[in-house]
Amino acid sequence: MGILNTLAFGVGALTGSQVGLRAIWRRTPRPHPRVLAAILEHPLRMKYRNPSQSLGPFGLAEGKSVLDLGCGTGVFTGEMARQVGGTGAVHAVDIQSALLERAKARLVGTDLAGRVHFHHSGAYRLPLDAESIDVAVLIATFSEIPNTLLLLEELRRVLKPNGYIAISEELPHPAYLPAPMVRNHLREAGFRYGGQQGNPFCYSLLHFRE
Ligand SMILES: C[S@@+](CC[C@H](N)C(=O)[O-])C[C@H]1O[C@@H](n2cnc3c(N)ncnc32)[C@H](O)[C@@H]1O
Repeated sequence: MGILNTLAFGVGALTGSQVGLRAIWRRTPRPHPRVLAAILEHPLRMKYRNPSQSLGPFGLAEGKSVLDLGCGTGVFTGEMARQVGGTGAVHAVDIQSALLERAKARLVGTDLAGRVHFHHSGAYRLPLDAESIDVAVLIATFSEIPNTLLLLEELRRVLKPNGYIAISEELPHPAYLPAPMVRNHLREAGFRYGGQQGNPFCYSLLHFRE
């Protein structure tokens, strides 16, 4: 086989597998497989997902109460804890205990550990008080949760009246949803659009509860 044929075959196989994988994920959203946890922390991902830069558009600040929904292995949890300071709190929630344990292990022995409360829970019934959260952050997570309506109802319950949801999606994630689709879901659930940053490869959206 000539080099051009080999190249064409490679591109075709890659495109076909990507289209197939994404179609499956779109039809049946599911949690990130735990055997692929290392991908979340991969240096290539960190090139476009530097935690402090990624959280920049979310307006986290001293004293805030933040929900890290779908915290995974905690790539962003520690930076959230740093940004909310000693008077703030981070609630890191994940449906997969193995990933949650990995997230906990990252913070052991650091002065950030006391600011983070870990919860093994699904998204439809969070172990949090009503109106207790300033910012609910979902990084590469919104598109993995099948029932968007139940998810957004629960986020409305836990958010303070002036609270908001920060959703970030990235194209390499097989469950990736384009920003207009995510905005539609939020609009239909009655959240007020608060802005978009980034680009189609990796974007962030803010939506206010009221
Ligand atoms: C792609 S990972 C992203 C993890 C982390 N936010 C990051 O960006 O590194 C998505 C995470 O959402 C979690 N997740 C998926 N569905 C969930 C649900 N219904 N309730 C809570 N967590 C969920 C998965 O277990 C997984 O850890």
